[in-house]
Amino acid sequence: GLGDVYKRQEERPVVGQLINDVRAEIETIIDKQKKLIEQAALEKKLEAETIDVTLPGEDVVIGKKHPLNIVLDEFKEIFLGMGFSIAEGPEVELDHYNFEALNIPKDHPARDTQDTFYISDNVVLRTQTSPMQIHAMETRELPIRILAPGRVYRKDEVDATHSPMFHQIEGMAIDKGITMADLKGTLNEVVRQLYGEHTVTRFRPHHFPFTEPSCEMDIQCHKCHGAGCPTCKGEGWIEVLGAGMIHPKVLEGCGIDSTVYSGWAFGMGLERLAVVCQGVDSLFDVDTVMHITNKVSEITGAHYGESNARDVSLRIITDHIRSASFMICDGVLPSNEGRGYVLRRLLRRAARHGKLLGVNEPFLYQVVDTVIHENECQYPELREKQSYITRVIRTEEENFAKTIDGGMKIFADLLAEHKAKGEMQFSGKDAFKLYDTYGFPVDLTEEMVQD
Ligand code: DAH
Repeated sequence: GLGDVYKRQEERPVVGQLINDVRAEIETIIDKQKKLIEQAALEKKLEAETIDVTLPGEDVVIGKKHPLNIVLDEFKEIFLGMGFSIAEGPEVELDHYNFEALNIPKDHPARDTQDTFYISDNVVLRTQTSPMQIHAMETRELPIRILAPGRVYRKDEVDATHSPMFHQIEGMAIDKGITMADLKGTLNEVVRQLYGEHTVTRFRPHHFPFTEPSCEMDIQCHKCHGAGCPTCKGEGWIEVLGAGMIHPKVLEGCGIDSTVYSGWAFGMGLERLAVVCQGVDSLFDVDTVMHITNKVSEITGAHYGESNARDVSLRIITDHIRSASFMICDGVLPSNEGRGYVLRRLLRRAARHGKLLGVNEPFLYQVVDTVIHENECQYPELREKQSYITRVIRTEEENFAKTIDGGMKIFADLLAEHKAKGEMQFSGKDAFKLYDTYGFPVDLTEEMVQD
């Protein structure tokens, strides 16, 4: 040990020196290693935190692009690619540009369908983007290829398909030797790019004062592929635009020699296009509801308008069976909790109202076929699961038929009890029990007690 070493006095300075040297060396090594480790850590950190100052900052995304703009941008892109340029013009127009120069004189019947907001006798909110044709012809060098999207105004009441303000897109091409074939070729190509390679179009003859000949273009319904469905109102086709060869009178009116130049033009509604492109459907379909009601009438023999109570029952059966079919299609089954519970109540209430209309056999499962037939174009999964949905409803109806007699007995007993006491209304608890378990209408009021 060290003790032994120190015993030899004369060696102490030497050993001490040696120890100091060794310590110094060890410390240097430790220092060096420490620096190396720190260096490595720093490098690793720097590497991990590298900031490339040449990269653009991160976008803060607020909201989303409007559905109309999504479609419009797509549409513009296609036309820009074909050498068209975008033209913009005023929404407040002179009568001359909106009507007169488009071959629609003051007494022309076309003015009736495009009644608008007049600022003065001569100044209107434009009813169409077609005045952009005139502006372009007056200000641009030939040949002309423009696309002019914008807002237009009409004196329409607001309903599902009308609005006093909407959007149109005008397209126009003028050059030497332009024919109807160019119009069809261009529009077919646009439609293919927009809706896919196999989209089918058709051109029907029509009349517009500023084109001759004129036509309308339809595209085959994207939902049913021509078979007819609620989206295309059974037509199989959806009208998308008006078009034609620019009337020589219009060309000449803008100082263009119609024996040398010719051109085509089209105008289309952007809202309609957006609906078709983005596959938006109406959420509530009047036809479907009518067809289901008719089917229920056919089975129950009850007709709408006979009495208020029967109308209520028809409405409830229609509405509940429609909802129930969609729930089952979503994978919900009748049960005693969650959506399954809601579904069970819907079915039992519908069955109870069938009873009120005098049907004692299970019948709701037959109504389901009508729901499916009416909606299968828009919801193909309904057709796929048809027999499943029908089976679930039939089973629930049969189960319910077994409890329903028990319900009738309870109802009769409660009624007798109430009458004996001279009470004119069921208590909330009794009413709820009858409603919840046996599907009785919720308004068990004076009338029912009196009946
Ligand atoms: N402007 C017409 C309208 O609003 C649509 C239209 C039809 C525009 C034929 C055109 C055309 O350019 O050639 O009903």
